[in-house]
Amino acid sequence: MSKTIVILTLISVIIGLYKNCHLHWYGSGTNRMSSLGYPVEIHKVTTADGYILELHRIPHPKHYKGNTNKRPIVLLVHGIYSSADCFLINGEEDSLGFHASKEGYDVWFANLRGNHYSLNHLNLSILSMKYWDFSYHEIAIFDIPATIDYILKKTGQRKLHYIGHSLASTIYLAFLSEKPEYNKKLKTGHFLAASVNPAETRVGRVAFSELGNFFLNFFDYGSIGIHFYIAPFNYLLWLVCQTPILNHGCLQVLMILGGKTTTMNMNALPELFTSMPTSTSARCLLHTLQGTMDFRQMNFGEKENLKRYGSAQPPPYNISHIETPTYIHYGGEDNFATLSSIPSLKRQFRKGALKKVIFHKHFNHVDFLASTEAKERVNNVVFDVIRKYENGDN
Ligand SMILES: *[C@@H]1O[C@H](CO)[C@@H](O)[C@H](O)[C@H]1NC(C)=O
Ligand SMILES: *[C@@H]1O[C@H](CO)[C@@H](O)[C@H](O)[C@H]1NC(C)=O
Repeated sequence: MSKTIVILTLISVIIGLYKNCHLHWYGSGTNRMSSLGYPVEIHKVTTADGYILELHRIPHPKHYKGNTNKRPIVLLVHGIYSSADCFLINGEEDSLGFHASKEGYDVWFANLRGNHYSLNHLNLSILSMKYWDFSYHEIAIFDIPATIDYILKKTGQRKLHYIGHSLASTIYLAFLSEKPEYNKKLKTGHFLAASVNPAETRVGRVAFSELGNFFLNFFDYGSIGIHFYIAPFNYLLWLVCQTPILNHGCLQVLMILGGKTTTMNMNALPELFTSMPTSTSARCLLHTLQGTMDFRQMNFGEKENLKRYGSAQPPPYNISHIETPTYIHYGGEDNFATLSSIPSLKRQFRKGALKKVIFHKHFNHVDFLASTEAKERVNNVVFDVIRKYENGDN
C-alpha cells in the first residue's frame, strides 16, 4: 500500500513538473488571449500572509489604442480546483472573459492560492505542509482583499464588479461577512453556479459523512497530497477528452460529478480540463464540504476549535454585513447547488442587498462556463445588469 502511494506520488510529481513547464503549450488562458489577438497582462500580488498570486488581465478590447486605465473593471474569480482559465474555454463568442472585453471592460482574472498559477509564497515551499494549511476562509480574508486592492491601486479606480463561479460565490459571502469595509469597493456581485450550502447538495450528502471523515484523518488538515494527486489527471483528461469516442466517456464522468448537461459545447470539453482540476488544499475541500445552512468558519472538531476560536463551534459568517447588490445564478441540474438552500440564504441577506435569484433549469455546474447557451442565458444577463449599473439606472 505505502509503496503504491510512493510510486503514485513520484509519477504525479514528474507529470506535475512536466505539466507546469508546458502550460504555454497546453492552452493556458493567457495563451488563448494572445492567440486571439487580445492584449494580455500578468501581474503578481502578495497577500498579507505571504502567498504570491498571479493575476491575468485583458486591459482593453482588441485593436484598441489609448488609455487603458479608465474602463470599468470586472474581476472574474474561479471556483475550487479551477483557475482563471475557466472563463476562457468556451470559444471567443461564448466565454465570459472574452465577452467582458468585447463589452468594453477592463477584465481581471484571479488565481487563488494553491492553484497552478499561484504556487509561490514569500517564505513557504509547496513541499511544506504549512503552505497547504488554508481553507477558503483564508482565501476570503487574504486573497480576495489583496487582489481587489491591487487592481484598484493599479488602475486608480475606487470600485469594481465581482463575478464568481462555484466556490467563488461562497468565498464572496465569507469575504464580505468578514470584511464589510470592502462593500464600498464593490459595485455589484454575481454568482454563477452558486454552490452556497454544499453539504446539502447531492454531492455534499454523499461526500460529507464518509469522505469528509476520511479526508480529515488522511490529510490531517494541511496536506501536500491534493496537489500532487491532482496534477496528472489534469493533463491526462485534456488528452483523453479531445479524442473522438473517448470524449463521450469524458462527458459521462463530468456529468456524474457536475450534473446532467444537454447543451455542453463539446469543443470546450478538453479545454475545460486545462483549467480544472488544478491543485488546492485538502482543508479547502473539507471546509467546502462542511458548508451547511449554518454558514461558518472551518470546523476542526471541538478540541481544536476551542484552541483556535475559543469556542466549541466555529464562528459563523454574518451575511447581513453584505451591502453590495448581489445576483445569484444557479442551475437545476447542478449537483453542487441546492434549491432548498436558497430561501435560507435569502433570509440571511439584509433587505435590498440580494437583488435577484436567477434559476437556470437545465444547467449543470459547468454549463455556466462551457454551454453553447452560456452567452444567451448567463453572460448577456450578467452584463445587462453591469451596464445598467454603469449607466446609473439601477
Ligand atoms: C517571512 O519571513 C520573514 C523573515 O524571514 C518574516 O519577517 C516574515 O514575517 C515572513 N512572512 C510571512 C508572511 O510569513
Ligand atoms: C450580524 O451583524 C449585524 C450587524 O450588521 C448584527 O446586528 C447581528 O447581531 C449579527 N449577527 C450575529 C449572529 O452576529
